[in-house]
Amino acid sequence: MSIKAVNLGHTYHPGTPLETCALKNISFEFDRGTWFSVAGHTGSGKSTLAQHLNGLLLPMEGQVWVDGMEVKEKSRSLQEIRRKVGLVFQYPEQQLFAETVYDEIAFAPRNWGVPENEIPQRVNLAMEQAGLEKNCLKRSPFNLSGGEKRKAAIASVLSSVPDYLVLDEPTAGLDSYSRKELTSLLVRLRSEGMGILLVTHDLDIALQFSDSILVLQGGTQVVWKKPQAVLEHLQANPVPGLKLPDIAQLSAALREKGKNVPLTWQWKCLKTALFGEK
Ligand SMILES: Nc1ncnc2c1ncn2[C@@H]1O[C@H](COP(=O)(O)OP(=O)(O)O)[C@@H](O)[C@H]1O
Ligand SMILES: [Mg+2]
Repeated sequence: MSIKAVNLGHTYHPGTPLETCALKNISFEFDRGTWFSVAGHTGSGKSTLAQHLNGLLLPMEGQVWVDGMEVKEKSRSLQEIRRKVGLVFQYPEQQLFAETVYDEIAFAPRNWGVPENEIPQRVNLAMEQAGLEKNCLKRSPFNLSGGEKRKAAIASVLSSVPDYLVLDEPTAGLDSYSRKELTSLLVRLRSEGMGILLVTHDLDIALQFSDSILVLQGGTQVVWKKPQAVLEHLQANPVPGLKLPDIAQLSAALREKGKNVPLTWQWKCLKTALFGEK
């Protein structure tokens, strides 16, 4: 059970003066119960990639597979793929549309035919998971604060209990407390068997939580590896706009000065190497 892309490519407005190649030859695979991050600078193709995973965009080159079903035009599986893969958009405003937050969160399960008497339970659970206050339910999603809108958008996807959760820069606009709450939620969902795809330009979060990371630059694949190997690659071959975490920079600088420390993003690890403390 996995999401897999093989030589995926996408060009916007082909054959016109606005032609833009947004993705070229992208290949990766991640299983349910794992956390896969896609990192890159603005314009590197992250959102374009995310939109291919639930068929919002269809591959122009290469293929995308969800649990063995190909994402392609007029496929009878497209409906099933959209049920399996929940996409949280980069900008909540692109996603929110209902009159109240309750209706917003209830929309997807209603759409997938969940009986009406089960809807309140679904809404409550999704709201709690996303860390949204109960008093938001009767409000218009458009009157929420930036952070609340983000949480409402996440809840509106969680309510249909997808097998994969794709989140496009979900930590933008969240304070550090809400960011921690969100990463804890994603860790929990992964342990319950959900596949997590996090789009981010925050390498700190990607390195800390991912099982594997894909780095994009200008629509091409720089590296797809486990976090430590990605850190080593990026340290040796910096990608513009993708800043290494402070601890990683510090450990790299110490190594250059001849200190016997590992290249790491983890403070605990660096501290132990420097001071021998656990
Ligand atoms: N709807 C669109 N029409 C034309 N070009 C687009 C569209 N969406 C994105 N692009 C272009 O495709 C490239 C990748 O964009 P995007 O996937 O949004 O990157 P990221 O999410 O990493 O910032 C950029 O050059 C961007 O300008
Ligand atoms: Mg984007």
